[in-house]
Amino acid sequence: MGLYETLISRTSVRNFSSAPISKEIITKIINAGHHAATARNIQPWLFVVVTDAVRRKAIKDMCPNNGPYIEFAPVCVCVFCENVTYYLEDGSAATQNILNAAHSFGLGAVWVAGDKKDYADKIREYLKVPNNYKLVSLIPIGYPSEKVKPTEKKPLEEKLFWEEYSK
Ligand SMILES: Cc1cc2nc3c(=O)[nH]c(=O)nc-3n(C[C@H](O)[C@H](O)[C@H](O)COP(=O)(O)O)c2cc1C
Repeated sequence: MGLYETLISRTSVRNFSSAPISKEIITKIINAGHHAATARNIQPWLFVVVTDAVRRKAIKDMCPNNGPYIEFAPVCVCVFCENVTYYLEDGSAATQNILNAAHSFGLGAVWVAGDKKDYADKIREYLKVPNNYKLVSLIPIGYPSEKVKPTEKKPLEEKLFWEEYSK
């Protein structure tokens, strides 16, 4: 699959098989996050990869409504950024790269909210990340347990304007 096809066929996956993912693939996926654009090239992120089932359940118990799938996906990538001016943009760019890279390896993933959530600091503390870092996202990743219907998108014509906006 070429890059463009990867980008336009990615969709959120929330049901996973328990099949493990090799460390090599996980590392490549994280490396894609690490190559995201970042304001002034600060690269304020750090990525905590959680594979241990007890830890994944503990994280899921802190955000049961947003991320129930974290318990069942074999991997949860936790994206943190140092609290710099553009931490949220930088961490979001890394998160999207990770979602796309996972998809390119035939894996499924979903962006679970981190920033602005009341559980963000609890999860940060649980993972022993220093308090000058913010949790941007949690990304459960695994092989999809079923075929996922792509999420419907609004027509591009409603969103695309040439030269200037018009109603
Ligand atoms: C900032 C952000 C926060 C999100 N938080 C959650 C979440 O907490 N739980 C969840 O299941 N999906 C979450 N999502 C995934 C969206 O629901 C999903 O991307 C959206 O429905 C579009 O579907 P698609 O990813 O298949 O294109 C989040 C996505 C973004 C960008």
